[in-house]
Amino acid sequence: MKAGSQIVLRNLLRENASPFDLRGDARTGLSSTPKTLPSKYFYDARGSHLFEMITRLPEYYLTRSETEILEREAGRFVEATRPRALVEFGSGAARKTRLLLDAMLERGLLEGYGPVDVSADASRHAADALILIYPDLRVEGVIGDFEHPRDLPFAGRPRLMAFLGSTIGNLDALQATKFLRSIRAEMTDADRFLIGFDLVKDASILERAYDDEAGVTAQFNLNMLRVLNRELGASFDLEAFRHRAVWNPRDSRIEMHLESLREQRVQISELGLEVHLASGETIRTEMSHKYTRESVGALLDTAGFRLDSWETDQAGYFALVLARRSD
Ligand code: SAH
Ligand code: AVI
Repeated sequence: MKAGSQIVLRNLLRENASPFDLRGDARTGLSSTPKTLPSKYFYDARGSHLFEMITRLPEYYLTRSETEILEREAGRFVEATRPRALVEFGSGAARKTRLLLDAMLERGLLEGYGPVDVSADASRHAADALILIYPDLRVEGVIGDFEHPRDLPFAGRPRLMAFLGSTIGNLDALQATKFLRSIRAEMTDADRFLIGFDLVKDASILERAYDDEAGVTAQFNLNMLRVLNRELGASFDLEAFRHRAVWNPRDSRIEMHLESLREQRVQISELGLEVHLASGETIRTEMSHKYTRESVGALLDTAGFRLDSWETDQAGYFALVLARRSD
C-alpha cells in the first residue's frame, strides 16, 4: 500500500459539523461568574507541543504511571478484547498507544487505528509517525470533538476503544457520563473500552504535577490567552496573568486558573466584547478530576458499563480500567 493512501483524516471541524465553537464558548465563559474557558482550546500546535513537554516533566507522574501499567498489561487487555482496530479519543502524539498497537501486532490482530482528536496538527504528526513503524497499518482518524462522536472508524470489526492519559478527568461528572453514554451507543458487545483515571492522592503531589518548577505548565495555561488573541483578536497581555493550580477537595479535582495580576479591561474584538477583570480574579481554564475505585465504579455504572478489570501502577497513582457495555 502506498503511504499516502494509508492515512485518512476526516476533519469535522472544517466541515463545520462539530460543535467546536471558540467564539460561543469564549463569550459564554468570559461573561460568567466565575469566568471559565474550556480546556479543549489549549491544543493548537503550540499547546499540543507544550503538553508533550509536560509529559516528560519530573513532577508529572501521570504519563509514567500509565506507561508502567501498559507495559505490564497491554497484552492482557488485547487478549481480553481480540480487537482488529484501536479507536482512541484524545490521542495527541499517540506515544503510549504504541504499547497497545505492538500487543495487537504481536498477535496478528492489527488492522486499523482510529485517532479522534481536536488537534489537526498532533493527529497528522502522530499518523505520519505510526505508519513508519507499522507499515501495514490503516489510519482512519477524525479531527473533531470527542464529546460529539460521529461515524467512529472501523465499525463492524471488534474494536478496542481507548481514552488514555486521564483526559476523562478534564470532564465534569455530567460531561463524563454523557461522553461515556455516547461512546456506549457506538459500541457493540464485541468492543471494549480502556480508560485511564488519575487517582486521588496527597494534595502536594497533585499540585506539583500541575505547577512544575520549570514553568512549562504555566506556559501551557497561558497558551489559552495566545489562542484567544490570535483567533478572536483579543488583547490579553500575558504578562498581566499568573498560572495557578489548586486542589479542590470538595469536587476532587485540580483546577488550573489564570489569575489577573491587576484590574484590567480586555477587548475581544471579534466578539465586540469587553471583559473586566478585578485584581486577583481568575479565569478557570481546566478541571482535572481525580478518582477513587468507588467513584470510577459509580461513573461506569451510571453510564451503562461493567468493569472487567482494574489495574494500577505500583505506587497506586493511576488506574487503567477495561470495561464493556452492561446489558
Ligand atoms: N492521549 C495523550 C494526549 C492527552 S492530551 C496522552 O495520554 O498523553 C489531551 C488530548 O485530547 C490532546 O491531544 C487534545 O487535543 C485532545 N482533546 C482535548 N479535548 C478534546 C475534545 N473535546 N475532543 C477531541 N480531542 C480533545
Ligand atoms: C490532558 N489532560 C489529562 C492533562 C491533565 O493532566 O489534566 C492536561 C494537563 N493540564 C495540565 N497539565 C496537563
